[in-house]
Amino acid sequence: VNNTIVLNNGVSIPQLGLGVFQTPAGDETVNAVKWALASGYRHIDTARAYNNEESVGQGIRESGVNRRDIFLTTKLWNADIRAGRTREAYEESLDRLGTDYVDLYLIHWPADGWQQAWKDMQELYLERRVRAIGVCNFEQHHLEELHALSSVKPAVNQIESSPQFTNQTLIDWTNSQMRVDVEAWSPLGGTGGSLLKQPELQAIADRYGKSPAQVIIRWHLQRGVIVIPKSTHKERIEQNFDVFDFSLSDHDMHAISALDTGKRNGADPDNFNF
Ligand code: A2P
Repeated sequence: VNNTIVLNNGVSIPQLGLGVFQTPAGDETVNAVKWALASGYRHIDTARAYNNEESVGQGIRESGVNRRDIFLTTKLWNADIRAGRTREAYEESLDRLGTDYVDLYLIHWPADGWQQAWKDMQELYLERRVRAIGVCNFEQHHLEELHALSSVKPAVNQIESSPQFTNQTLIDWTNSQMRVDVEAWSPLGGTGGSLLKQPELQAIADRYGKSPAQVIIRWHLQRGVIVIPKSTHKERIEQNFDVFDFSLSDHDMHAISALDTGKRNGADPDNFNF
């Protein structure tokens, strides 16, 4: 069974979800969502910028799983933040998804204009159009600025985190000082997959009779982080959910954290140009 985390606004989120970044629209996304829901996932994480919201919606409808039983996240894209079109962008995402609410709406990056976007998202939240709102790729200084301008806390901060770039300092600060839960993107180290071939990780995985991907997902869960691994393959989607029958020792948790290279896989939130 999936673990559930209660966010700071009282809404529950399944700790393990399916991410669909870089999953092409059409059959690949529709199938990934259907396979995930059939294997027990109840949390799907998409974004306007992934260009697959329509296929996510189709996959949910074709799965036969009740929309209300699924935790669905999408994100406000940078161009819409800069243009000040939060409400329009939200309605457009709902139309594409074919639903009348999402569970979590996130600011995708701290693009110029995010402060106004946060006010607009608060309105949507207070009008009960969305169950929770949050941010992505916020560093400590962004969260401090948000905290100073707003009474509504983000429910989550979704940031890059994997054994290769644990981001542990930001996670610890976000959890303890802000009382905000963290979601990890690129949780397996992203495309390329070199982390999954790391020999120490493979050795740990062998001892548990699990795959490196399963061990990494388990490491995220035991750190208390919400995790959204991506795959377009049925066996991997199923494998990535088969992580509730074992537990990593403290020793192995530390060994995995020690793989940190300090090098990001994705963009730097203080210096991005998209
Ligand atoms: P694929 O979609 O071809 O399965 P992240 O979630 O960190 O972005 O990383 C996902 C990457 O790891 C993708 O390239 C995905 O490729 C691959 N992947 C996902 N699950 C597994 C798995 N269980 N075993 C091996 N590779 C995986």
